[in-house]
Amino acid sequence: MSKRMKICINTGGGDAPGLNAVIEAVTMAAYNRQWEVYGIKCGYAGLLNTDDIINLTPEKVDGIASIGGTILGTTNKGNPFDMPICNAAGEWETRDLSDRVMENFRRLRFDALVAVGGDGSLDIAHRFAAKGMPVIGVPKTIDNDMGGTVITFGFDTAVSIATEAIDRLHSTAKSHDRVMVVEVMGRDAGFIALNSGISGNADVILIPEIPFDIDKVCDKLMDNELHGRKYAIVVAAEGALPKGGDVVTKSICEPGRQHVVLGGIAEYVANEISQRTGKDTRSMVLGHLQRGGSPTTFDRLLSLRFGAAAVRAIELGKFDHMVALHSPDIALVPLEEALGIKKRVRADGDTVLTARDLGISFGD
Ligand code: F6P
Repeated sequence: MSKRMKICINTGGGDAPGLNAVIEAVTMAAYNRQWEVYGIKCGYAGLLNTDDIINLTPEKVDGIASIGGTILGTTNKGNPFDMPICNAAGEWETRDLSDRVMENFRRLRFDALVAVGGDGSLDIAHRFAAKGMPVIGVPKTIDNDMGGTVITFGFDTAVSIATEAIDRLHSTAKSHDRVMVVEVMGRDAGFIALNSGISGNADVILIPEIPFDIDKVCDKLMDNELHGRKYAIVVAAEGALPKGGDVVTKSICEPGRQHVVLGGIAEYVANEISQRTGKDTRSMVLGHLQRGGSPTTFDRLLSLRFGAAAVRAIELGKFDHMVALHSPDIALVPLEEALGIKKRVRADGDTVLTARDLGISFGD
């Protein structure tokens, strides 16, 4: 009989629809092997202060696969190798608390950690693997920018939400003969903008991988008008940038850090269009709506498959790897290999070519 394991799971980075489905699958697959499984709260913070660790049982995870967010909580500022601490003088400094995490992991006699997260959280997981922690990664991000896997869970839901929003913008834009510029998430990758823009019948899609010329964007809109289409939809990825220019950012003040984040490209593009064409133009930012609510069926199933595969990987002793979709199968990829790939939209890829064949402009 194989060893009865005691495993734990955490969720790190920004939330993504499907996290709860991974938790449910890991719990059930472990339970069905008569293993113990524990939930670590708020990424790695729950391994620094261990008061809040919860025993996950079938009752606790029953039906959570269809619910958005994560029952374990998450954070995108909890790197134990570089933890912001407020010192006695009231000043913020960073400390390496990774040894404390290792001590707690060993004291609690865990046999393995399932780390669910994007590139940041999985990089932390890989660093713990180097310190001797048996870790399996599960890739998550709505941005779909994680290497080593065809797709991450959360992406399909984000694209569906963005597409529905674009669909809705058509009628209001048409009624007013307006240009609507909608900003979607994605960090430095344009996958959400590209897929939702094509599906939502946009006129222009702006993505980080194809820097745009605002004059070309305006030419497309004026050309539309010659063909009788007086309104237009522009989908801009938050990381899109003009040729020779820079991304648009804003500053957020949080305890311990002044944080610069992407944001504002839709407003910038809308102002430029309005000034250059005289067209009535509005901008909107879809923001965190893209991460909220229930996962699509695709994301739910992928998350359940990832969670179950993570438990099988533990059984095989394949640590320092992450589960990945290599359609139609789930594969195991070394974390080092996956983290070394920056996945971006291929400007010569089929999806971009499809958009061009449909008459969509990238402003290039
Ligand atoms: O990586 C996921 C993501 O939603 C990005 O698309 C976006 O830039 C970022 O997280 C937003 O982060 P936060 O939740 O900290 O505002």
